[in-house]
This record gives sequence, structure tokens and C-alpha cells, in this order.
Amino acid sequence: MTPPVLEIDGLTTSFETRQGRVEVVSNVSFAIPQGESVAVVGESGSGKSVTALSIMGLLEGNGTVSKGSIRLRGRELVGLSNKEYRLIRGRNIGMIFQDPTTCLDPVYPIGHQISQALRIHKDLSKAQARARTVELLTMVGIPDPVSRLKSYQHELSGGQRQRVMIAIALACGPELLIADEPTTALDVTVQAQILGLLQKAQEETGAALLLITHDLAVVAEMAKRVVVMYAGQVVEEGLVDEVLNQPRHPYTAALLRSVLSPDMSRDEPLHIIEGTVPGAHDMPGGCRFNPRCEHAFDTCLTEAPGLHDCGSGHRSRCWLAQRGERLEVSV
Ligand SMILES: Nc1ncnc2c1ncn2[C@@H]1O[C@H](COP(=O)(O)OP(=O)(O)OP(=O)(O)O)[C@@H](O)[C@H]1O
Ligand SMILES: [Mg+2]
Repeated sequence: MTPPVLEIDGLTTSFETRQGRVEVVSNVSFAIPQGESVAVVGESGSGKSVTALSIMGLLEGNGTVSKGSIRLRGRELVGLSNKEYRLIRGRNIGMIFQDPTTCLDPVYPIGHQISQALRIHKDLSKAQARARTVELLTMVGIPDPVSRLKSYQHELSGGQRQRVMIAIALACGPELLIADEPTTALDVTVQAQILGLLQKAQEETGAALLLITHDLAVVAEMAKRVVVMYAGQVVEEGLVDEVLNQPRHPYTAALLRSVLSPDMSRDEPLHIIEGTVPGAHDMPGGCRFNPRCEHAFDTCLTEAPGLHDCGSGHRSRCWLAQRGERLEVSV
């Protein structure tokens, strides 16, 4: 059997800080088979980006993968040198970030940047790389691509920059695409276009997609499976349809209730989750969500629940799920 494109097993990532060593991603496991998309959701600070940066070998200097394994088509990535990682990024993993300026170079025209990626990883001649660049810009919907080759990033709109970043990510035919909040900075219409483009590109290339977002509507639209993260842990995981319709963790249920439903009246208050995600220094004992959980009982305050399998790959890190209890999901 061919191994999944991405297989993460017990990933634990820590940072050295002035207050000592902090663990911000704890024992995270999930896999993405070929051609499938997995969304990672959770509030700000839950460890989504650190998980992505760990996979891409792009953690800041004070961060390390302290435990666990990250395999790309069965090949272990933890422990690779920077040089080995550089070859894998671009060739095997394409990356799309929220802010395209972190990826685009202001000094070179965009055509040059895409051609460079192609020439480094694909051994193409200058003319071949230019032709492929025009093809890619056409594919991502940049109008008049030939004259756009000479444009600099500041001459493009936010949506166009995002399209160029997708073109760079797709340039070498990666087997895995990682998109971290790719549309958060864009207005709603452009957001829908970019997500549509990402979906089409994924279908056409057969790549696996890891999509990080805090938007459950995007999850429902784009992904087959969802991984819900809270305070550095996976708290729920499963098929999108199941998790969003029948959540088995109170955190997921609360996230769902905080989404404005179209049939809600304008003066109805949005349900907000009281409190904030705890930092690594003030992690509560027992279940990490217990201080904010309306269902918490004695055991939740003292014992940390493991991930419980609720059937058909739907898992929840909650004592209620272990007892077989179901949650109210009426929005
Ligand atoms: N270089 C670092 N040094 C110390 N702590 C860090 C570092 N980078 C991230 N963290 C901490 O790791 C935790 C998780 O951060 P992360 O960026 O993964 O959150 P996130 O889920 O992506 O949130 P957001 O939705 O805001 O992007 C945060 O508490 C953050 O402060
Ligand atoms: Mg983030």
C-alpha cells in the first residue's frame, strides 16, 4: 500500500523562551492521503501555524520538533538538514501564506521569481521556464500574463499577489500543498475566487491539501476531513460532515455556535466562547478546555482525557465522549 502523502505522528514542538522551554504543539497526529484535503481549525494561538511550520522545516531558531515524526510519502522529515529541506520545499511541498509579501521578493519581477523556482527544481532552460511561467500565470487567472511577467509585487492587487503565490506553490507539481489562512486578508468575493482556484488546482494536480483556517464555512466548502486544535492539542478529528453536524467535543460545538447562521435574526447575539486559549505557562490541569467548558465536571479538572474513538475515525478528546454522551448542537 502506498503511504499517505503526509503522516504526522505524535508531533510535539517546543520553543526556548526567556521564561524557559514551552511546548506549544503537543502530541499531534493526523494523515492526508493523496488527493485529499484536511482542514485544521482552532482559535488564535491554538498551534495551527506552528504545526505547519514544523512540517515545512521553517520553525524560528528558538523552536524544535522535540518529539514525533513527520513523514512525506513515508520519508522522515524530522532531522533533515536545511539543505535537504530546501530541496523538498518547492519541489515536494508548495506553500501559500496569509501574507504574500513574506514569500514574494520585492526586488525581482514576478515572472523571474516563478522561472527561478522552475529552473532550480526542474532543470528547465530559460525559454522553457518562461513558457511554463506564462502557463502557470494563465492557470491562476492573471490577466495578460505575458506583460505581467515584468511586474513587481507592489504593482499587483492583494488578490493577484495571492494568485502569484499559488502559481509559485504549484510550479514544480508538489505532492502536498500547505495553505495557512490563504484568504484571511482578502475581501469576500476575492476570497471565494482564490479558494475556488485552490480547489481546482488541487483537483487537477492530485496534490494533498493541508488548509489552515479559523473559518468553519471554509472548512465545510473545502475539506473532507477536519482536525480541531485547542491549546496545542488535537481535540477532535473526523469527516467534515460528521464533525460539523454532530460534534463530540464541547469546544467544536462552541465554535459552531459562534458562527453566524444565515437564518439568525440581526439582533440575536453571537455566541462567544468566554475566556481565551491558555498559554503554555498557564495550562490548566486535567482537560485543557475545562476552564471554558460549560459541561466540565470533577474528572475534567484533574484528569487529562485521551483521544476517544467515537467510530468511523471520528475522535474526541473529551470525557463526555468517552461516556458515550452526545452534545446539543442547536445553533
Ligand atoms: N518563536 C516562538 N517563540 C515562542 N512562542 C511561540 C513562537 N512562535 C509561536 N509561539 C507560540 O505558539 C503558540 C501557537 O502559535 P501559532 O502561531 O501556531 O497559533 P495559530 O493557531 O496559528 O494562531 P493564529 O490563528 O493567530 O494564526 C502561541 O501561543 C504562540 O505565542
Ligand atoms: Mg497562524
